[in-house]
Amino acid sequence: MRKNIINNVSWVGFLDWELKNFHGEDFKLEHGSSQNAYLVEEEKTFLIDTVYRPHKCEFVENLKKEIDLNKLDFIVVNHGEVDHSGALPALIKEIPSVPIYCSALAKNSLQGQYDAKDWNFNIVKTGDEIEVGNGKKLKFLDMKMLHWPDSMATYLTGDEILFSNDAFGQHFAVEELFADKADKNILEEESLKYFVNILNPFAPILLKKINEIKNLNLPLKIIAPSHGAIWREDPIQIIEKYEEWANFYSENQITIVYDTMWNGTKKIAHFIASQIGLKYPESSVKLFNISKTDKNSIMVEIFKSRAIIVGSPTVNNSILSSVAGFLEFLKQLKFKNKSALAFGCYGWSGESVKILEDRLKEAGFLVKEQGIKCLWNPKEEDFTKISEKIEQFI
Ligand code: FEO
Repeated sequence: MRKNIINNVSWVGFLDWELKNFHGEDFKLEHGSSQNAYLVEEEKTFLIDTVYRPHKCEFVENLKKEIDLNKLDFIVVNHGEVDHSGALPALIKEIPSVPIYCSALAKNSLQGQYDAKDWNFNIVKTGDEIEVGNGKKLKFLDMKMLHWPDSMATYLTGDEILFSNDAFGQHFAVEELFADKADKNILEEESLKYFVNILNPFAPILLKKINEIKNLNLPLKIIAPSHGAIWREDPIQIIEKYEEWANFYSENQITIVYDTMWNGTKKIAHFIASQIGLKYPESSVKLFNISKTDKNSIMVEIFKSRAIIVGSPTVNNSILSSVAGFLEFLKQLKFKNKSALAFGCYGWSGESVKILEDRLKEAGFLVKEQGIKCLWNPKEEDFTKISEKIEQFI
């Protein structure tokens, strides 16, 4: 079912209230999501992006109810990832010669994923534009690495819409489509969660791209991303948020994350939290057991933190697998300007703290102090030492 965005621009995407995961199981969703595809009917009729493969039949059938598919003059593919390109094979089966406008790398990606050797590809880059009638133009804008090498955005003059694809989106199902109609708290929470878990690794590129977009002096009425709510009331607000987040964002927060076997490491974690709360009341302290908390939400808390404290007991000369997996994801997100301290209990060989420190350094954290090690369970003398160590660290 189409929903009007403005004038001759409609949303024809898929609203998924019940989607619980994204990128396989790597991104857990709490508020659903959407795959936003757009239909523009000027003198030229065209589609911007499609939807995820499981919804391809519904997407094509719905589109047929709205227009004669043979009237589609072209399709813009801003990004080849399957959540936006998944319905293309079904659509192109119906209209095999329809021109597809995309970046050179998107062509590679589509040809790698689908039997697309005969598709009518037209490669575009920043500066290229198409007349779409009624005095309007479509301008293409390279968005390389935001978040894939093939990513691109498209700008429609006249209506002044930036179809930004993955940038500026959220995993958030909003029936009314617009950010100004959405629950503000969830919108803010999901925008940040999306930024941290998907775009933060590319923060320096993002800052340069935002400057480049600003230098183009394109008037901006609407930012229409490919997931979640569409920004039409003060659309610059999300660009300003991205600039703030991409620029070494941090709050006066310290986050403790750990996992435990027989609760010794848990006791240290809780003691550290109480010490920080007692001695540094101006700091906000958060504590999470990695095995019991959604990792994408913990990453948001780490993003907000100026320092983190990470714990694992020693197990089989190493660290718990839950902590190892968490640290691998932490490394991928490329946080900057944050300090870290390690801790953990051990009974025999005691390697965990050193391993945690090495992994935290690899993840780009500043590990200044030697970590906290406790033989078996922490005792009174250990708590005294932990307290001193925390003072040195903070
Ligand atoms: Fe929403 Fe990169 O796909």
